[in-house]
Amino acid sequence: AMETGVARLDIVDWEQYKIDLMKRMGIYNKLIRDIRTRAKSDLKRLVFSDADNFKVLKAVEVVRSQSIAKPILLGDKQKIEEIASENNLNILDLEIIDNKAPEQANKRKEYADILYQKRQRKGLNMEGALYQMLDRNYYGIMMVETGDADGFLGGFSNKYAETIRPALQIAGTNNTLNHIAGMYIVMTKKGPYFFADTTVNYEPTVRSLADTTLLTVNEVRKFNIEPVVAMVSYSNFGSTRKGSPLRVREAVGYLHENYPNLLVDGEMQANYAFNAELRASRFPFSKLGDREVNTVIFPSLSSGNIAYKMMNELGQAEIIGPILLGIRKPIHVLQQQCSVREIVDMAAITAVDAQTKEDKIIEL
Ligand code: ACO
Repeated sequence: AMETGVARLDIVDWEQYKIDLMKRMGIYNKLIRDIRTRAKSDLKRLVFSDADNFKVLKAVEVVRSQSIAKPILLGDKQKIEEIASENNLNILDLEIIDNKAPEQANKRKEYADILYQKRQRKGLNMEGALYQMLDRNYYGIMMVETGDADGFLGGFSNKYAETIRPALQIAGTNNTLNHIAGMYIVMTKKGPYFFADTTVNYEPTVRSLADTTLLTVNEVRKFNIEPVVAMVSYSNFGSTRKGSPLRVREAVGYLHENYPNLLVDGEMQANYAFNAELRASRFPFSKLGDREVNTVIFPSLSSGNIAYKMMNELGQAEIIGPILLGIRKPIHVLQQQCSVREIVDMAAITAVDAQTKEDKIIEL
């Protein structure tokens, strides 16, 4: 193993490596620039639910100065003001809402009424609804639900599930499948790849895998890219007949039968997904032919989550996301402790989502 390691180091062409890196950054920059340009064309009011945090405020400053959106700050007002003045952040003229403050009592009541209407037959009483409005995720998502804001970006300082749950409870899904999933754009030297589900469904059933694929296909098309989808696993086309490979295979069967025009196939191992020539020679019957795959659906939350994080840490890929798929409103959730750059990117994505999302159920 040592020997291979040395040999591999020897063959790295650092000049070529640098060129590849530049090319990759070029594609990345173009994709994110396009998103930012679209965001700027029609400014949306975005509520940031973790505003009393330095990185979020720093990102807000960029979002405002580059006119990506009109930020609304949700958080502890005094803390926000302290952080801003200590760090010389030019944001203090922005609207700041402290949902716990006494002056928000009327809004809290208004929002709690709406939540109560939605959840009274799901075990929620009025006291509970009022209490939920002290939570910034519930309050901020309710702002979007009622039109007091156009989009929501949160999740920086709390667990992903704590933001997804109110999004599901308040906004619900926007599709006939009644499904949600999370996607990442992974920028590699071969171009952008779309990975799902990387954030929501723990142990997906056959139907959940198929539904995640359909939501992802729908999203990839919004980037003007025709999805070529590999459903990956640890076996190829039935070489293992139980466990997750079987579920993936059944999901592929379901999609082939019900969505015959979709370019999707599997189950297959990742090397066959990413190497079109190898796949076409070994599995010439595959529906994908020798097309380059650009969309990858994982058999479980663990594998999807591990894959994008490894691409980020070891593969030096830039990542954009998580892009939440299937929620009826423009609501997105950051991964905890992400960078300022990622927050700005996600703000642009949320803003574009707010421009384009129609408040209707899409047929999938
Ligand atoms: N699609 C559509 N609806 C859903 C889904 C789904 N995938 N999951 C739950 N729901 C619905 C439920 O049916 C329920 O409906 P109802 O109460 O109106 O009848 C509603 O949403 C709320 O569900 P709960 O039962 O309260 O929430 P649950 O405990 O099922 O949690 C959640 C849902 C939060 C999405 C959960 O599946 C989860 O925590 N997923 C993993 C999140 C995570 O930790 N990811 C790690 C990676 S994060 C990162 O890397 C950025």
